[in-house]
Amino acid sequence: MSFRDTTKTKGKIMSLRGKTNQVQAQSNQWKMMRVILPTALLLVVCTAATAHFPKGAKATKAVSFASVRTNASLPPAVTATDPGPRPLPATAGSFLSTLSPNEQQIEPSITTEFNRTHDVIVTSPTDGGLGPRFNENSCASCHAYPAVGGSSPPTNPLFSVYNYNGATNTMPSFITSTGPILEARFINQPGTTIPDGNVHQLFTIKGRSDAAGCNIAQPDFVTAAAQGNLALRQVPPTYGDGLIEVIRNRDIVNNMNSNLAQKASLGITGHPNYSGNDGSIQRFGWKAQVRSTLLMAGNQMNVEMGVTNETFPNEIDQTPGCVLNPVPETVTNFTPGILTEMFPGDAERAEHFIQWLAPPTPGHASTSTKNGKLQFTNAGCVYCHTTSFTTPATSRPALGNIIINLYSDILVHHMGPGLADGLPQGQAGPDEFRTAPLWGIGQRLFFLHDGRTSNIVTAIEDHFSLGNGSYPASEANQSVTNFNNLSPKNQQDLVNFLRSL
Ligand code: HEC
Ligand code: HEC
Repeated sequence: MSFRDTTKTKGKIMSLRGKTNQVQAQSNQWKMMRVILPTALLLVVCTAATAHFPKGAKATKAVSFASVRTNASLPPAVTATDPGPRPLPATAGSFLSTLSPNEQQIEPSITTEFNRTHDVIVTSPTDGGLGPRFNENSCASCHAYPAVGGSSPPTNPLFSVYNYNGATNTMPSFITSTGPILEARFINQPGTTIPDGNVHQLFTIKGRSDAAGCNIAQPDFVTAAAQGNLALRQVPPTYGDGLIEVIRNRDIVNNMNSNLAQKASLGITGHPNYSGNDGSIQRFGWKAQVRSTLLMAGNQMNVEMGVTNETFPNEIDQTPGCVLNPVPETVTNFTPGILTEMFPGDAERAEHFIQWLAPPTPGHASTSTKNGKLQFTNAGCVYCHTTSFTTPATSRPALGNIIINLYSDILVHHMGPGLADGLPQGQAGPDEFRTAPLWGIGQRLFFLHDGRTSNIVTAIEDHFSLGNGSYPASEANQSVTNFNNLSPKNQQDLVNFLRSL
C-alpha cells in the first residue's frame, strides 16, 4: 500500500470538493494508522518512504507525525471567485526605462533573437540549429503571454510545431490545444528506480525536410504517464528577472530570518536552494534551481530548442545522423566588420533580453484591492510572498537601487503531497517549490508549477495539503485556512488584489 499514490493529485485540476475528499481520505487514513497499526509498523513505513527518495531529497527528513496532526483540520469553505485575467493590452513586456542609450541600441537585435524561429541547419554563427530533440523552436512561442517574455498563451503553440516541415511527432496526451505549454521531466529513468530528473523533450526532428537521415524516437510518454513517472512544468514569465538576479544573498537571508514568530505560528519555514558549486542562492525555475540569467538563457536554448551554445555545448542526443551541425551551434561571432550587437552568440543575446525586461505594471489600485492587500498580510500570504526587495548598486546601473515588488522570498517551501512532483533539484526537495513571484499574475492564464488550473482561487486552495507517509504537510496550510476564514468581502478583495498585480 502506497500512501503517496493514494493522495497524489499531480496533473489534475482539483475542485474544493475534490480537495475536501482528499483531505477526508487522508484524515481517515491517519486515524486508521494511529488506531490499528502498531508503532513498529509506522517506523517501517517511514523508513521505507525515506529510502524511496534519491540522495539529496532533503524533504524526507522533515516527515513527522506531529506535522501531520498539527494541520489535520479542514479549512472552511471558500466564497471568493476569480474575476479572470485582466484584459489586454499587456501591462508587461517593455524594457527597463533605466537602460542607458548605449544599452537601448541593442534592443532590436536582442528582441529579434528572442523571437527567432530556429531551423535545423546552421548557416551562420548567430543562427543556432534546432534539435535533434526539442520542445519548441523559439523562445517567444513559449514565453508569449500577455506579451513576449511572458508565459503560455491561450492557444497552445506546440500544435503548430510538432508536425512542422514534415516532422512526424505525435502529440503527448497531456498537451491540449487550449491548455498550458508543458515540459516533461522523468522522475526515474524509465523502468528503474534510478533517479532521472532530466527534461525529456516532447519532439524530435525526424522527418523534417531539413533533417534527412535522422531517425530517433520520441520518449515513451504513454508508459511514463501510466507509471506516474512524469513531472510536468509550465512556462514561468521572465519579466523582471534581471532585477531578481542582482538581489544580494544576504538580503534574502535577512528576509528569511525576519518575522520569525509570525512565521512559526503559521508553520512557515523555507530555505534557499544554495548552489552546490559556489554557495550562492539560486533563483530561477520552479525550484529555484538556476542562479543567473545567462545560465538560464544558455540552458533554455539547449533544453527547449536543442540549440548548443557556449554555456551548454553538448547536443542532447548524439545519435549519428542527427547531429547535423558542428557544436556549439552558436558562438561568439568573430567575423570581421560584424555589428557590435551581433558579436555575442544567440544565448548571450537572449540573456540580455530577459535580463532587461521590466517588471509588469500593476493595475489601478481600488478600495477593494487596497483592502485586499491588507488581507494578503492578515492571511499570512506575505510571509512567503515577500512584498519587495531593493536591488543593490550594481555595475549595470540600470538594474541598481530599485525597489521591486515581486511578492516572493526566493526561498523554497514544503508544499505538501498535493503539489509535490517527486523530483528533487539541488537543495529543493521533491515537495518543495520556490515561492512563485506574483507580479504580473493579474494577466496570467495558468497557475502553479504544472499549470493545473486557470482559476486563481483554486491556485490558493491548492496550497492546502495534509502530510502523508512520504511528505510533510504544506507550510501554507494555516495561511489558506486564514484566507478561507476571512469574511466573503475580505476574501474577494484579496483575490481582486491578486488580479490587479
Ligand atoms: C518549450 C517552451 C519554452 C521555450 C521554447 C523556452 N522556455 Fe524558458 N522556460 C520554460 C519552462 C517550462 C521553464 C521552467 C523550467 C523549470 O523550472 O524547470 C522556463 C524557464 C525560463 C526562465 C526562468 C524564469 C524564472 O523567473 O524562473 C527563463 C529566464 C527562461 N525560461 C528564458 C528562456 C529563453 C531565453 C528562451 C530561449 C532561448 C526560452 N526560455 C525558451 C519553457 C520554455
Ligand atoms: C509557505 C509559503 C507560501 C504561503 C504561506 C503562500 N504561498 Fe502562494 N505560493 C507558494 C509557492 C511555493 C508557490 C508555487 C507552488 C507551485 O507552483 O506548485 C505559490 C504559488 C502561488 C500562486 C500561483 C503563482 C503562479 O505563478 O502560478 C498564487 C496565486 C499564490 N501562491 C497566492 C497565495 C496567496 C493568496 C496566499 C495566502 C492565502 C499564499 N499564496 C500563501 C508559497 C506560499
